[in-house]
Amino acid sequence: MTAAGSRETSASAIATPARLTGGIDHIGVQSDDLPCSIRWYEEFFGCDVTWQMEGGFSDLSRRRLPGISRLVELAVADIRFHLFTRSAGAGEPPPAEANQFQHVCIRVGSADELRRWRAHWFRLHSSGRYAFARPEPASVIDVDKDGMQSFYAYDVNGLEFEFTYAPGADDDLGR
Ligand SMILES: [Fe+2]
Repeated sequence: MTAAGSRETSASAIATPARLTGGIDHIGVQSDDLPCSIRWYEEFFGCDVTWQMEGGFSDLSRRRLPGISRLVELAVADIRFHLFTRSAGAGEPPPAEANQFQHVCIRVGSADELRRWRAHWFRLHSSGRYAFARPEPASVIDVDKDGMQSFYAYDVNGLEFEFTYAPGADDDLGR
């Protein structure tokens, strides 16, 4: 999200960019219950609030996201989430068949760690402290033919996360 627009320059006058070398800067999460989402991202992912913005959004942001009123950045490790809210009550999870960034996958360091994340999700889900936009529980752990293990679970807004463990690929993450 940018704070201000920039002056247009003819695209043909600008060189082609070099091949990407960086990672993903942040994942944008739209929520109609920002306080609940902030607590859930803190408690489930272990994120800390690192930055926030209340008002002062650029014209482009307000055109793209009518009603935007607050944006809160939460971060853990090198993962950053930008949680933001729009007009009160506008939010519903996207229809399952809609084209979208359908899920975000987080890699963990061992099969045991994958099971702990799944149990952690169920603990928060059954705590009664969070209203989940989608009723589905976290999935079973799926194991593919190469031994890659994954489960899928929704955040409080109904956005889907995958957690995955790929044997051999993540020894540097092992714990
Ligand atoms: Fe995936």
